[in-house]
Amino acid sequence: MSDLDRHDTIRAVHWRGDHLSLLDQRLLPFEEKFVACRSAAEVAQAIKDLVVRGAPAIGIAAAWGVVLAAQQDPANLDAALRLLRASRPTAVNLMWALDRMQGLGTDVAALVREAQAIQDEDLAANRRMGELGAALLSGGGVMTHCNTGSLATAGFGTALGVIRSGYAAGKIAQVYAGETRPWLQGARLTMYELVRDGIPARLIADSAASYLMRSGAVQWVIVGADRIAANGDTANKIGTYQLAISARHHGVKFMVVAPSSTVDMATPDGAAIEIELREPAELLGVAGKRTVIEGAEAWNPVFDVTPASLIDAIVTERGVIEHPDRHAMEKLFVPGHG
Ligand code: MRU
Repeated sequence: MSDLDRHDTIRAVHWRGDHLSLLDQRLLPFEEKFVACRSAAEVAQAIKDLVVRGAPAIGIAAAWGVVLAAQQDPANLDAALRLLRASRPTAVNLMWALDRMQGLGTDVAALVREAQAIQDEDLAANRRMGELGAALLSGGGVMTHCNTGSLATAGFGTALGVIRSGYAAGKIAQVYAGETRPWLQGARLTMYELVRDGIPARLIADSAASYLMRSGAVQWVIVGADRIAANGDTANKIGTYQLAISARHHGVKFMVVAPSSTVDMATPDGAAIEIELREPAELLGVAGKRTVIEGAEAWNPVFDVTPASLIDAIVTERGVIEHPDRHAMEKLFVPGHG
């Protein structure tokens, strides 16, 4: 077993033949409980409720949701696809996975093979991106945002995969993770993964990021993505944009790590990406406990768009794009442009 295998023990999505078992991310880090989804509708609800979250993991779960629909009632497959497609709007991995599944009709065995392939390919892509991204690192200090690890993918992770690989290669000495208000993906999930792996990690308040960058303790900000548009503009967890602005101001490099399933060449730029707005209640309390006076309103967009001009490198399993723009994206993602 390699060092990296030892660091890759968490799996959030398990196919069990007649149901999908999802590690309930609402309960982490204190309870490791699995939820059984027995229909496409239950999978769609689990995606909406953030039982499963993170762009690649959402796509994988949705693919298994299609298998459940085909097993139960092939006549209702189109309705199931529509339901799954509508579960969350921003992560394009969801639509990408459903497009792959939709192309196969109702043959259950073929659908099972495809869902498994989507899951296996994601793990392989993460391992490859880990190597490619780690090769760019220098300086020893990195910051990340949200959760992009095994919990958000088939395993290993995207940005967190680069951190795992970078740490294994001796290129990272200290990780800083932003809390990621309001849902606390950084505090609850990324710290859970990093502490389990024994990677030196410190939690910071989201609002400490600029001060951290000014201190000189980090040389790279490494984040994932929910959708990368054709010009390299990148939608990711709310707060990513301000990290990119601050990184540029402080001379800190900014890396986006995402598999090609996150790239959407049909979306011309960031302005065309639908940004999910979630319930104000998520923001009006912490961990389910109300912290704001009754009657208060809130605005809760859960993603933002970082313009390509603020990104130093986009790392995909197909290769690294430094200083991304439309031309560089087309070279890697439009057949015939290479
Ligand atoms: O709302 P979430 O938790 O699904 O948002 C997740 C993110 O924004 C991640 O950074 C992104 O999906 C990449 S996960 C490899």
